[in-house]
Amino acid sequence: MNIRPRRNRKSAAIRNMVEETKLGVENLIYPIFLKDGSNIKEEVSSLPNNFRWSIDRLLPELEECLNLGITTFDIFPAVDESLKDKMASYSYAEDNFYLHAIRRIKETFPELTLMSDVALDPYSSDGHDGYVENGKILNDETLPILAKMALAQAQAGIDIIGPSDMMDGRVGVIREMLDSNGFTDVSIMSYTAKYASAFYGPFRDALNSAPKSGDKKTYQMNPANKREALLEGQLDFEEGADMLMVKPALCYLDIIHVLRENFSIPITAYNVSGECAMVYAAAKNGWLDYERAVSEMLLSIKRAGADGILTYFAKDFANFSKK
Ligand code: PBG
Repeated sequence: MNIRPRRNRKSAAIRNMVEETKLGVENLIYPIFLKDGSNIKEEVSSLPNNFRWSIDRLLPELEECLNLGITTFDIFPAVDESLKDKMASYSYAEDNFYLHAIRRIKETFPELTLMSDVALDPYSSDGHDGYVENGKILNDETLPILAKMALAQAQAGIDIIGPSDMMDGRVGVIREMLDSNGFTDVSIMSYTAKYASAFYGPFRDALNSAPKSGDKKTYQMNPANKREALLEGQLDFEEGADMLMVKPALCYLDIIHVLRENFSIPITAYNVSGECAMVYAAAKNGWLDYERAVSEMLLSIKRAGADGILTYFAKDFANFSKK
């Protein structure tokens, strides 16, 4: 045999030398749930190890994460049902607890990078990402609401806006709103290929944001489709997105790969709540080695072509890396 691939695997030194993919904590974005009030740290029952935090309890947690090398966080608000309406007007209200908390986080840790979701669902009495009339999710009527929400978030200090709503034309409308108000430095990481997935369950539990009726299939993508991800990528790129996200990650590694091959801007992936919940559950039962499973999953998402990964495993991965 002239060629024996095993020779390049014979020692840790050689394996490390020829390792093709490197994953570091700098590639990770940590999603966190925020709740109004004080002294709250409530575990999400379908997403163990993850909590709804009040801002006073969250600040020390963020400091701990920063010390572990996590630089970027995506914060999601759990909004009281009484504040929700059809127009999601609380999302840009003056007294919005989330926007106040964002300001406080940026004042306390100016070096921390903050990302935020733009979509109606956490604020909508219909639980949909767009404005609903007679059971229909209306695209063009939703766009100005998204733009207002994005502007309010930029004013509060968000560094990266994440439109997660899948309405057509949203990236362009948000870019225009940000630029015309002087926020040319605020980035857009678009949820470009966001699929109508079964894996968002624990997230919707965390925010109590599940649709009150129907499903999200008229706006989120059909899991059967891959070419359509290129169309979404092209539109988001042309409308001014800085980064293109694929969501979920694990069942969609081929989509990450195809976007990586076709676009020159960074590609990111959202390792969503249901994907993480599966690992928590298996590890708890002793069916999987938690650290090895998490590390392999995140590495595979990077190998597929993601530069950045949103993952609930961020803090645990940072702790593993320290060892
Ligand atoms: C809101 C949004 C969702 C997620 C991120 N932003 C849920 C949904 O679209 O229903 C899911 C994240 C996760 O499952 O971890 N538009």
